[in-house]
Amino acid sequence: MTAENLAGFRPYVLFCSFLLLCLVELGSANSNGLKDGLLRLEVKRASGSFEALVAKDRHRWSFRSNPARWSPLKEYRKALERQEIQLHDNARYKSVSLGGNVVPDGGYYVDLEIGGQKAAAQIDTGSSNLIVPVSGCSSCSSEGMIDISHSSSGAIIPCNSSSCNSNTCDSELCITGSCSSSSKACCLQTHGVSGCFFAVIYGTGAAAGVYFTDTVQIAGLTTKATVGGILTNVSDYPVGPATGVLGMAFKAASCNPSCATPLFDDLVKTNNIDNIFSISLRNEGGTLILGGIDNSLYSGDIHYEPLRHGANSLLYDVQCKGVKVGTSDLISTSSGAVVDSGTTTLVFDSKYFKDLKKYFQSKLCDIPNVCSNSSASSETIFSGGGGACFFFSPSDIAKFPTITIELSSFQINLEPKDYMLHVPLSDIESGNSTIPEKSRTSSSDAYCFAILDFPGLESSEGYSMILGDTVLKNYYVVFNRENYSVGFGNLS
Ligand SMILES: *[C@@H]1O[C@H](CO)[C@@H](O)[C@H](O)[C@H]1NC(C)=O
Ligand SMILES: *[C@@H]1O[C@H](CO)[C@@H](O)[C@H](O)[C@H]1NC(C)=O
Ligand SMILES: *[C@@H]1O[C@H](CO)[C@@H](O)[C@H](O)[C@H]1NC(C)=O
Ligand SMILES: *[C@@H]1O[C@H](CO)[C@@H](O)[C@H](O)[C@H]1NC(C)=O
Ligand SMILES: *[C@@H]1O[C@H](CO)[C@@H](O)[C@H](O)[C@H]1NC(C)=O
Repeated sequence: MTAENLAGFRPYVLFCSFLLLCLVELGSANSNGLKDGLLRLEVKRASGSFEALVAKDRHRWSFRSNPARWSPLKEYRKALERQEIQLHDNARYKSVSLGGNVVPDGGYYVDLEIGGQKAAAQIDTGSSNLIVPVSGCSSCSSEGMIDISHSSSGAIIPCNSSSCNSNTCDSELCITGSCSSSSKACCLQTHGVSGCFFAVIYGTGAAAGVYFTDTVQIAGLTTKATVGGILTNVSDYPVGPATGVLGMAFKAASCNPSCATPLFDDLVKTNNIDNIFSISLRNEGGTLILGGIDNSLYSGDIHYEPLRHGANSLLYDVQCKGVKVGTSDLISTSSGAVVDSGTTTLVFDSKYFKDLKKYFQSKLCDIPNVCSNSSASSETIFSGGGGACFFFSPSDIAKFPTITIELSSFQINLEPKDYMLHVPLSDIESGNSTIPEKSRTSSSDAYCFAILDFPGLESSEGYSMILGDTVLKNYYVVFNRENYSVGFGNLS
């Protein structure tokens, strides 16, 4: 479906069905199981399992086979400047606590203020826009909504502003059917709001609305920033009490279709902090450090992995060499893995998920729910693309092998506790879910398989793994944007 097809729709109708239209459009725009991929990670119930892990995936979905087409990629600092930065001068970094967890929230979030109004946003290194619901969103819950008209510093970016990128109206993303006659920018004209349109498509969920500028405060730092005001409700949302998303990736991934300087770029410039941030995610909550590295949060060395696309990076995409299960080399690859705090689990492109499934189902059938010969049902941990939950005894869990993801110079080890997520029953029982109590014994507890299948990931996005919170939770992770690398250190 093209923008022209949609031009005749009334804006109200268009907007209400935005997500659906988007999915239809995505499905038809690409035949690589794209639509399937979007649906795959949503909360689902497999018949033999009692519930699925609430797995969110906020890696920004480019939905174009050629990411370079998005916008001219720009470098912000000269290479020389980058190398002169004092990486070990921690004097100016700021820490802020994160809320949230992997289960049941499916993510971590931070408190901030926009135009003096309180907001909370999921920390997402897999996208680049700060977005929050704004007044005027009829389908959003009223929690955490920003009222732009109540902020003396807030202003919607008009469609004819130079910050609303010209010639974006033909893009697949601009489906409002309203183009600025002079600049051909992508405009929003609905809900009594008029301004520069944005829409971000994530692995799960999507958000659309209008860009505005306002003063943002976070971790005691203040800057003027560009914010996406959500006017269309988002599925698979929110994370804990957070109704916003704080994209922490590069500006090249912020063009949706107009480009918005990411909040962190503005914070670095305005507050003169180092262009580095780091995260430490704990079982409950965590810490975000803006502008440097907190030496008290890790022990030993930090191992840095260069980003595969260097200064042209959209996301934090590192080189993966392979995957080991126990001591067996299962996968050998030269593809990328995206470090994404906005995704709950470890995500594999189907070709690797299949390899993993094949290995488990040929070598590990003595563990219940791995192969489909269990008496209770034919569902396995791989059914429905992963994410399903079953009852296991501690001794069954101990039989699962260590999975090792080999990066260029560092190995990430996932123990059974990392990918067979223990889920307190009280957390996962939502409403009156159908829990097969008969499969439960006094010594068993609920665990969810936290490795998910994402069909078409590599063919459309150019990387084949997403390292989400269940992976990052074990490390102190440094996002070094000065020299385009991601560092992993052991938590102290
Ligand atoms: C979207 O709408 C649903 C149902 O109307 C509501 O429960 C949910 O909280 C809304 N999401 C947001 C982000 O407001
Ligand atoms: C943008 O449009 C408004 C309202 O139509 C007008 O007042 C303003 O001068 C325009 N600005 C530019 C830069 O064209
Ligand atoms: C980036 O900087 C860190 C810290 O100084 C260093 O250890 C690492 O090797 C650098 N990485 C690259 C890709 O230059
Ligand atoms: C499933 O069947 C295989 C082969 O018959 C057997 O070795 C394994 O123990 C069975 N698994 C379970 C959980 O019963
Ligand atoms: C769900 O459980 C509650 C009690 O916990 C009960 O009142 C309600 O009728 C149940 N709803 C359904 C659809 O079974």
